Parts: sequence; C-alpha cells; structure tokens
Amino acid sequence: MKSKLYFLLFVLLVPFILAFSQEEKKVVYDPPKPEDAPDQIRNAVMLGYNILMNTQKYAADYVGNDLNCHNCHFDGGITKGGKNGGISYVGVAAKYPKYRERQDYAVDLITRVNNCFMRSLKGKPLPGDSKEMTALLTYYQWISKGIPIYADIPWLGLQKLESDHEPVKEAGKEIYGTICAKCHGESGQGSKSENHRMSGPPLWGNDSFTDGAGMSRLEVMAAFAYNNMPKGNPHLTKEQALDAAAYVTDQPRAKFTKDSEAW
Ligand code: HEC
Ligand code: HEC
Repeated sequence: MKSKLYFLLFVLLVPFILAFSQEEKKVVYDPPKPEDAPDQIRNAVMLGYNILMNTQKYAADYVGNDLNCHNCHFDGGITKGGKNGGISYVGVAAKYPKYRERQDYAVDLITRVNNCFMRSLKGKPLPGDSKEMTALLTYYQWISKGIPIYADIPWLGLQKLESDHEPVKEAGKEIYGTICAKCHGESGQGSKSENHRMSGPPLWGNDSFTDGAGMSRLEVMAAFAYNNMPKGNPHLTKEQALDAAAYVTDQPRAKFTKDSEAW
C-alpha cells in the first residue's frame, strides 16, 4: 500500500524533475565585471579590457588601420549579442579550442584573436607569450567564468539573416547615403564628430578592415547591420540590411596578406 503511494508520488513528480533537469542544461548569462576580478589577475584582466576598448593605444604596434576591437565587439564583448550587442565574447574561453573535423585541425583562442588582429585590424599577430595576449586570454577566461566547457552558448556568433531577398547594390547606395553616411562618412572614411551620436568608424578604404575579414562578407555584414545599425537604434529591414551590405562590401579596401612586410 505504502509503496503504491510512493510510486504515485513519483509519477506525479516526473514532469517537474524533467523540467528541472532541462533548466539546468541551459547556459546562464551572468558574466562578472572586469573590475571584480580577484587581485592576482586583476591587472591582466583590466589590460585585456583596455586593449579591446582602445586597441589603438594599448596594442598600437599591432594595429594597421583606424579600428578598435569594440567597433564590432561592443563594450568589450560583455553583451548578449543579438540586437544592439554586436559580437559577444562571453563564454569564448569555454568554446575554444574549436575542432574542425573537415580539416582535422583545431583553432585555439590565440589563433582566433590573431585572425581578427590581422584581418579586421589590418595588423600583426600578437606573440603568444606577449603581455598583451596574456591579458586578452585572462580577460576572456574571467568573463567566461561559470560557463561549462564546450557548452552550447546561444549568444555567441552573429545570428544569420534568413531572407530570400536578392541584394541590390544600387538600392544599397541610396540607403548608405540616407542612413549610414552621417556617421560613417560620405565615402566610408568614418567620422569623429563632436556629437558622439553621429560618429562611426571607417567602413572601407585603407583605414578599415581588409578583404580577408569576416565583416567583408556580404552575409556577415548584413546580419551585423540588421541587428546593430544605426548604432543604438537598429531599424533596418532585412532587405535594407542586405542591400546596404552589398554596396559597402563592394567598395575598395586593403587586401589581406599574411606577409607582415606588406603591413
Ligand atoms: C548613428 C550613427 C551610425 C549610423 C547611422 C550607422 N552606424 Fe555603423 N557604427 C556606428 C558606430 C558608433 C559603430 C562602432 C560601435 C562601437 O564601437 O561600439 C559602428 C560600427 C559599424 C560596423 C563595424 C565596424 C566597421 O567600421 O566596420 C559596420 C560594418 C557598420 N557600422 C555598418 C553600418 C551600416 C551599413 C550602416 C547603415 C545602414 C550604419 N553602420 C549606420 C555608428 C553608426
Ligand atoms: C570589423 C569587425 C571586427 C573587428 C574590428 C574585430 N572583430 Fe573579432 N570578429 C568579427 C567577426 C565577424 C567574427 C566572427 C563572428 C561569428 O562567428 O559569427 C569575430 C570573432 C572573434 C572572436 C571569436 C568569437 C567566437 O564566438 O568564436 C574573437 C575571440 C575575436 N573576434 C577577437 C577580436 C579581437 C581581439 C579584436 C581586436 C583586435 C577583434 N576581434 C576585432 C569581427 C570583428
């Protein structure tokens, strides 16, 4: 009699137990602040943060254009991605090394960081044992605190833009002129206006990212612009984002070369 009762109780609890274990598998977004890092790593974490927020100053020797990491990875990457968040970094330390089965090769976080230094900032790779690289890795590790290794982290990476629209460059030129140019300049050179709300980094030409950068791909820029542009108030339709990206990615920019002499 008693065991039947226990059985009934168990059956009644099953949905709750299942719901609870599902809940546990979900990754929670709760990154610690850089300034809250413990004493023994705080200097490194803060230097990492400063490099990302002012790459021109804190990693000057490794940058070859006018961009800073935060231009695409907003706010030191401590964001949930999606709308207004740019490209997040929260959890990257748990995502790498990333194994690519087709190439039978793993990309580690040092390589991934240097990819953006060379391709997006038109610069040179940071030596793996440099104080700058150590600072960046320590920062990434700290803001990834609490996220399980190789968890599925939903806010990392740009959300793909699903659309059947064929991008039209001419329409993109119009959109560029009416929407983007007031911050990014008539000829994509960027602007540093007194009024911060009207400033933006360069989108093409020698001072912007190279043709080897992820952002130089139409689908990537369209997804980024759809979610984030104009900065602070993204309101493009999918069609406008695709058209604008078709126009911007068709403009001249520096060629990516691994050869640092060309740099
Ligand atoms: C209100 C000003 C403003 C407008 C309008 C605007 N942007 Fe931006 N954009 C910014 C700012 C500011 C950043 C850098 C954000 C940061 O550093 O936090 C940025 C960053 C970018 C970036 C990544 C960095 C780079 O320079 O490559 C791209 C790409 C971009 N914008 C595309 C566009 C496109 C396309 C449009 C028009 C559809 C547009 N933006 C309209 C202000 C603006
Ligand atoms: C012009 C835009 C741009 C700039 C500037 C930029 N990045 Fe990136 N970064 C990207 C794109 C695009 C991706 C790939 C996003 C994706 O996977 O969907 C990326 C990815 C990354 C990743 C891997 C994120 C992940 O989830 O796997 C790291 C780490 C990174 N960047 C570091 C940097 C550092 C460090 C700098 C400054 C030296 C920098 N980036 C500057 C565009 C940029």
